[in-house]
Order: sequence, then structure tokens, then C-alpha cells
Amino acid sequence: MIDLFQPFQIGKLQLANRFVRSATWDGTADEEGAVTEASLAIYEKLGQGGIGLIVSGHVYVDPYGQAGFGQYGIHSDKMEPGLRKMAAAVHRSGGKIAIQIAHCGIQTTRRSPRLMVVSQDPASKREQHEMSDSDIEALINTFAQAAVRAKEAGFDAVQLHGAHGYLLSQFLSPLTNRRNDRWGGNIENRSRFHLEVIRRIRQAVGRDYPLLIKFGVRDESDDGLSIEEGITTAERMCEAGIDAIEISFGYSPNPSSMTTLKPGEPPRAFFRDRAAAVKQAVKVPVILVAGIRSMAMAKEIVNSGDADMISMSRPFIQEPGLLKRWQNNAGGTSDCISCNRCFPPLKPDGRLVVCRKKESSGV
Ligand SMILES: Cc1cc2nc3c(=O)[nH]c(=O)nc-3n(C[C@H](O)[C@H](O)[C@H](O)COP(=O)(O)O)c2cc1C
Repeated sequence: MIDLFQPFQIGKLQLANRFVRSATWDGTADEEGAVTEASLAIYEKLGQGGIGLIVSGHVYVDPYGQAGFGQYGIHSDKMEPGLRKMAAAVHRSGGKIAIQIAHCGIQTTRRSPRLMVVSQDPASKREQHEMSDSDIEALINTFAQAAVRAKEAGFDAVQLHGAHGYLLSQFLSPLTNRRNDRWGGNIENRSRFHLEVIRRIRQAVGRDYPLLIKFGVRDESDDGLSIEEGITTAERMCEAGIDAIEISFGYSPNPSSMTTLKPGEPPRAFFRDRAAAVKQAVKVPVILVAGIRSMAMAKEIVNSGDADMISMSRPFIQEPGLLKRWQNNAGGTSDCISCNRCFPPLKPDGRLVVCRKKESSGV
């Protein structure tokens, strides 16, 4: 029987246990994308929670890739002092922290003069710039530069955001990638951006610096990325230098429906089947996220061999110290009901990322 509270290793990174706080945007960065006192308070508390690996909220590598307000940036050296404090806030209590680096491509809600897109979307009314070969080359370097900044700022690892229809998903999905150059067409071409980003990061930070990906292994559409294509890509990404894969979804016409339960529905691990399929194909640790709400469920998943690590986001919004409770009580559960009301609209209206379970369900 595997004990989830025993130490675990991702590449050269030693972790206290097999639990991960999945990347969670919290809206506390300032206008420039810098870490604030409010951000540090969140990470300080998470750090005290005994979580094996904390992944930061997604951090934009380039202003064109910013998803929305209150998001951290790693696009310039000016961000480094704040990010250094974030890493230190977790290290102070002995925790480990990875930074999730991201570009959201066409999904930006920012009023930037133009959108940087993989392919033009005829349905979008905004001005779109389809990236040229040299734009793509420059962006690969931008990702590598972000990883170097993260390493210098003291993060223990980098996680690429390769899920949820963001830029990496946009390259991989035939629904959003309609290019007919070396970046589009068959799966070899559509996955080229992933592999180049991974190789360039490896060159920049060395072989031993831990590099993870949160990966949308399939799309929620018959015409989209298939699970077979996703698994092939996962195998190639490991050959290129990925140390662990966290499994999630790629393109979805309704992303929030992917992880939301109706009132009264019992908890379920939404992506367990796809994690199990990836685990059959790769040797690196597979991390399962979404819907895991009890110690019993977490234990059963890992001991069945479907995943190596258990990742959670909303349970830690609801209770940052959850794991301490689970560790002292083998039958522990989370009160999170996966209603998704903690995710406020992406606008600067002062709404915070907090549990609103009572508002939504009357529980
Ligand atoms: C408020 C909020 C912010 C999130 N921010 C991110 C993010 O920055 N990057 C990411 O990959 N996923 C993000 N997610 C998704 C979570 O990491 C996770 O995949 C999802 O909530 C399912 O896991 P859970 O059921 O344990 O919450 C966010 C989710 C929520 C609720």
C-alpha cells in the first residue's frame, strides 16, 4: 500500500509527499503583473499547509499572452523581486513551489492592440495577428527566458501551461491550428511548438532543473485533439525533457463545465481515465487533478496505479490547511462541492477568489 504522505521525487526534486496544489489564479497581482502583499499572504498560508508541491497561478511570459486582470507576469526582469518573495514565502515553512508559465494566445481578455494567434479565428471580431515563423521562434525564446527568470528567482520547478485551450493547446488542436507550414497539419507539426519550447528551456536551465507540464491530453470535440494524439505528444515531450505531467483537458466549448458538479452530485475524479492512459505510456510521474475530494479517493487512485500524485485546486481555496487535517485523520474529506463559484469573472471589480459555496447552494 502506497502511503501518500511519504516523500516522493519528480526528477531531482525531493517532495515531502505526493500532494500538489494545482495552479490557481488568484487575481492579486498589480496592474504591471507584480506580486503584492495580498499574493504573499496566500502563498505564506499555502506554504504552511504541508503540501508536497505548490504550483503558482499561471504567470504570463509576454504581455500579449496575459489572460486577464490580477495575473502575475514573468515577462520582464522587473517582476523578479516580487516572484522571489513568492518563492521565499513557501520556502519559509519548508514547502516547494513551481511556477506555471503561460501564454493564452487568442484567449486574452486584455485590451491589447492585437491578438497573437496560431491561426485566424473567423468568429472573432478582434484584430488578429497570425504569428509568423519568426514570431514563433521569438516566443519559444520568451518561454526559455521566463524559465531562466523563475530559476533565478528561486522557484523549485517550472510548469508549462499546456491545457485549457491556451496557446499550447491552440497549437496542438486541429480546431484552432489551421496552419499549413511546419507548425500545423499533422500531429508532428502541431506538437513542434511544445517540443521546441521544452528543448529551449532545457538548454537554458540545464538537464536537472525540474520541468513539468499541465497537459490537455484531448479536446472535448470529435474533430479536436484525440487521446491517441495526446498520448503520442506526451511520450515525445518526455523524450524532450519533461519530468512530470499533470493531466487536464485541452479545448472545450465550455471549460468551466469540465470540472463543475451539479448540487448533490457525488465527487468524481473527472480525468482519471485519461491519466491512466497516459501513465501506461510514459515513465515520468503522472499527476491527476480535478474533482478529488477525499483521502480515501486519493489513496485508491494512486494505489490502483492510475496516477502517481494527487493535485487539487479548489479544496485549498476552501481550506489551505486541508492536508494537515487529512494527515491526522485518515478518513478526511474536503467540503468543496466543485460548484466553481470561487472563480469570479475576470475583471477588476474587487471580487476575490474565495469559496462561495454557501451563496450558491445554501449548504
Ligand atoms: C479560481 C481558479 C483559478 C484557476 N487558475 C488556474 C491557473 O492559473 N492555471 C491552471 O492551469 N488552472 C487553473 N485553474 C484550474 C485548477 O488548477 C484545476 O485544474 C481545476 O480547478 C480542477 O481541480 P479541482 O477540482 O481540484 O479544483 C483554476 C481554477 C480555479 C477554481
